[in-house]
Amino acid sequence: MDFTLSEEQLMIQQAAKDFAQNELLPGVIERDEIQKFPKELVNKMGELGFLGMMVNEKYGGSGLDTLSYVLAMEELSKIDASASVMVSVNNSLVCWGLETYGSEAQKEKYLTRLATGEIIGAFCLSEPEAGSDATSQKTTALDKGDHYLLNGTKNWITNGNQAEVYLVIAQTDVEKGHRGINALIVEKGAEGFEIGPKENKLGIRGSDTHSLMFNDVKVPKENRIGEDGFGFKFAMKTLAGGRIGIAAQALGIAAGAYELALQYSKQRKAFGTEISNHQAIAFKLADMHTKIQAARHLVYQAACDKDNGNDYTLSGAMAKLYASEVAMETAVEAVQIHGGNGFVKEYHVERLMRDAKITQIYEGTSEIQKIVISRSILKD
Ligand code: CAA
Ligand code: FAD
Repeated sequence: MDFTLSEEQLMIQQAAKDFAQNELLPGVIERDEIQKFPKELVNKMGELGFLGMMVNEKYGGSGLDTLSYVLAMEELSKIDASASVMVSVNNSLVCWGLETYGSEAQKEKYLTRLATGEIIGAFCLSEPEAGSDATSQKTTALDKGDHYLLNGTKNWITNGNQAEVYLVIAQTDVEKGHRGINALIVEKGAEGFEIGPKENKLGIRGSDTHSLMFNDVKVPKENRIGEDGFGFKFAMKTLAGGRIGIAAQALGIAAGAYELALQYSKQRKAFGTEISNHQAIAFKLADMHTKIQAARHLVYQAACDKDNGNDYTLSGAMAKLYASEVAMETAVEAVQIHGGNGFVKEYHVERLMRDAKITQIYEGTSEIQKIVISRSILKD
């Protein structure tokens, strides 16, 4: 596979790098500490086109390919994974899901505003008793003729409070199991829709994670995405692409931690020489660099599979599994290379280490990726 980047792709990569350095880096430590992500920064990401990168230009997006999107995700994630998870959810789950499976009316009403970043969206699948086991939906969407009556709780929802539009997965017909699940568009402010308190998290603390409660929320029938009973397939198909975005996030965290460690090792002296001259440190850097390159190839491969119209469920799951393991490993080693300085906030690697952990959990844990991968290879 040839991963030579086009001029346009290089330009996107540079634009994301500049934005991350100039706009995300200042304040990243404070945002992590106070657990906030200011609206002005969301607006800037929208203005620069980061919130609707792959959406067709006719709906206000940038019309870019998936490879450009992962290049941007990687650069943003080197600095601030709380920003990049917002980019990932809005692009690959909410916008992609709506553009691919939404009706023309839904696209006109919601997609244009989502793609420009005028509003942001959330993707609501997980529940207190349905995380990995996503078919066990307890949230119900009962068919009442011209509307659905939505009841239940969703957990851990990214952009939970900042979003205006929520794609909510819920069970309509229990008898039909996963074939009786629907995906509904719910607007913020709907009667009976409550947002729980913000979660106090280990990592991606700038990201806005909430539980959501639905008590007899009326959702008009025209807000259902796709045919009756398509909701679980909608979630799975959407997540298959979402995992490429999170894989790119993990790659960025790994690369960001590695770059900081490399730089530090060439400056810090111990026993009369730069620590990079000690083989134990040099070998750590060699391992980090090798694994990051391997992860990058898997992530780019998955993106190219999607761009070329190939099946990307397997390559996306492999990319997410491997890149997230590399992110965790690399960030831990980057802290080690920094010694005591690695343990304090100013040097950034402790945050990257905390942020890396989530990439092994959300959009399907590492164990779930192994289920997806093993089923795919065994089927063949
Ligand atoms: N594409 C299309 N259809 C798919 C599919 C895919 N990639 N994967 C599964 N399906 C279909 C199956 O074909 C099946 O349909 P049929 O019976 O009609 O053939 C149906 O979905 C059920 O599939 P399974 O029998 O394989 O279901 P399962 O109960 O064994 O679970 C699973 C499958 C892969 C483990 C799934 O439950 C899963 O992905 N769990 C993880 C959930 C997850 O990733 N959550 C992320 C939430 S969003 C998030 O986290 C965002 C964020 O943090 C930022
Ligand atoms: P569980 O499913 O209870 O898993 C617990 C452990 O058991 C894990 O190690 C898991 O891998 C393992 N396990 C479970 N089943 C198996 C099995 N069959 N084989 C082997 N091991 C297994 N969800 C959304 O819908 N939208 C969001 O925007 C969103 N954002 C999130 C943001 C954050 C910060 C967090 C923490 C979570 C978010 N999630 C979101 C939820 C996330 O997708 C789930 O946490 C994840 O899918 C795991 O589900 P769970 O937490 O219920 O863990």
